[in-house]
Amino acid sequence: MKKKNLIIFGTRPEAIKMAPLVKQFQKHHDVFETRVCITAQHREMLDQVLEFFEITPDYDMNLMKPNQNLYTLTADIITGLKPILEEFKPDFVYVHGDTTTTMASSIASFYSGAKVCHVEAGLRTFNKRSPFPEEVNRSVAGSICDYHFSPTTTSKSNLLKENISGESILVTGNTVIDALHFSSKKVTYDNYGDDEITILKEVVDASKKLVLVTGHRRENHGQGFINICTALKEIAETNPNIQIIYPVHLNPNVQKPVYELLDGINNVKLISPLSYPAFVWLMNQSYLIITDSGGVQEEAPSLGKPVLVMRDTTERPEAVEAGTVILVGTNTSRIIKETQELIDNSKKYDSMSSLHNPYGDGKACERIIEFVSNL
Ligand code: UD1
Ligand code: UDP
Repeated sequence: MKKKNLIIFGTRPEAIKMAPLVKQFQKHHDVFETRVCITAQHREMLDQVLEFFEITPDYDMNLMKPNQNLYTLTADIITGLKPILEEFKPDFVYVHGDTTTTMASSIASFYSGAKVCHVEAGLRTFNKRSPFPEEVNRSVAGSICDYHFSPTTTSKSNLLKENISGESILVTGNTVIDALHFSSKKVTYDNYGDDEITILKEVVDASKKLVLVTGHRRENHGQGFINICTALKEIAETNPNIQIIYPVHLNPNVQKPVYELLDGINNVKLISPLSYPAFVWLMNQSYLIITDSGGVQEEAPSLGKPVLVMRDTTERPEAVEAGTVILVGTNTSRIIKETQELIDNSKKYDSMSSLHNPYGDGKACERIIEFVSNL
C-alpha cells in the first residue's frame, strides 16, 4: 500500500519552499500517493509560484478575500479542510513555516488523525508579538506536529527546549535552497522567465547601485511603513547614484502607504510582485537588499548580498552570525544611517558581501523523503 501524503500551503513563501518537496514526492510515486491542497490564502502571488514550478493543485480552497482578517481566515481554513481530509484520508500531512494556513491546517490535520509533519520547524524569536502572528503560529504548529524538519541545528535546539522529542526532529537544511537550485537550473536550461527579465532589464539603471526593497510584516503596518517609506525617500533623494526597485506586496496595508509616499520619485521604481525566477535575478543584480522578509534573509547569504532587515527580532540568527544580515528595525534615522554606511563604506560593504550557506545544501527534500520512507 502506498503512503498517502497531503501537502498543504497557502502563501507565496510556503509555495516556494514546498514546491521542491512536491516535485520530489512526485518522483517517488511508486511509494507515495501525493496530493497538493492550496488554501489560496494568497491568490495572484501564489499562482505565480505554481506556474513556475508547474504544480497543479488537487484541491484549491480559493479562500483569499480582499484585506482579509485573521479570525475568518483561520475559521475558513479549518472548516474548509474537513471534507478534503475526510475524502482523501492522508497518512501524512505536510505544513510549512508559520502562516495562518500553517497553524490552522495543522489543527485540522490533527483532528483528522493524520500524522502531521512540519517543514521549517523550530524557528523562534521567543517574542509572541514579533513577528505577529507568526511566532504563535509556528509554536502552535510545533506543539501539534508529529515530525519536525528543522532547517538548522539552532532551530532543532529550540524545539528540544520545548520538550519535543529529539527522535521526531530531523535537521534537513532549508528547502528554500532546494528551490533556488531548481530555479537556477530551469532558468538556465529552459530560458524560463526571459520575457519578464527582459522587461526588468529596461527598468534597471545599470549605471547606478541597485537597492532592492521588499516589505509586508503585519507588525510594521501603519507607522512602521510610514517610517520605512520616509527613510527610502530620503535615501533616494540624497543618493542620485543609487536606484531603488521595490516590488510591492499586494496587501492593501502595504500598497497604500508605499504608493502614496514613494510614487513619482525619479530613482525609485515601484513594480508589481515578481515571479520567483525574476526576483532571484533581481537579487543577483542588486548591491544591497532592504527587507522585512523571512525568505529573503535566507536566500541573500547564498547569493552574497548584504541585507538590512527592517525588524527588531529575527528567528534566523544564522545569517546575522554569518555577517550578511543586520537588524535595523523600522526607525527612520537608523534605516538611513545603516544604508548610507553600506553605500559609502566599501570595507564594511565587502565584509558583508561574502558568500555564506547557513541554510543548507539543496538536499533538504531528499532528507525529508528518506525519513518519511522509513516510518
Ligand atoms: C501572509 C502571512 C505572512 C507571510 C506573508 C508572505 C499570515 C497571517 N500572514 O501575510 O506570515 O510572511 O503572507 O507574503 O499568515 N493579497 C492579494 N493577492 C495576493 C496576496 C495577498 O491581493 O496574492 C492581499 C489581499 O487583499 C489579502 C491581503 O493581501 O487579503 C493579506 O493577505 P494575507 O495572506 O492575510 O497577509 P500577508 O500580509 O500577505
Ligand atoms: N519573492 C518573489 N517575488 C517578489 C518578492 C519576493 O518571488 O516580488 C520571493 C522571495 O524570493 C522569497 C519569498 O518570495 O523566496 C519571500 O516571500 P515574502 O517576503 O512574501 O514572505 P516571508 O518569507 O517573509 O514569509
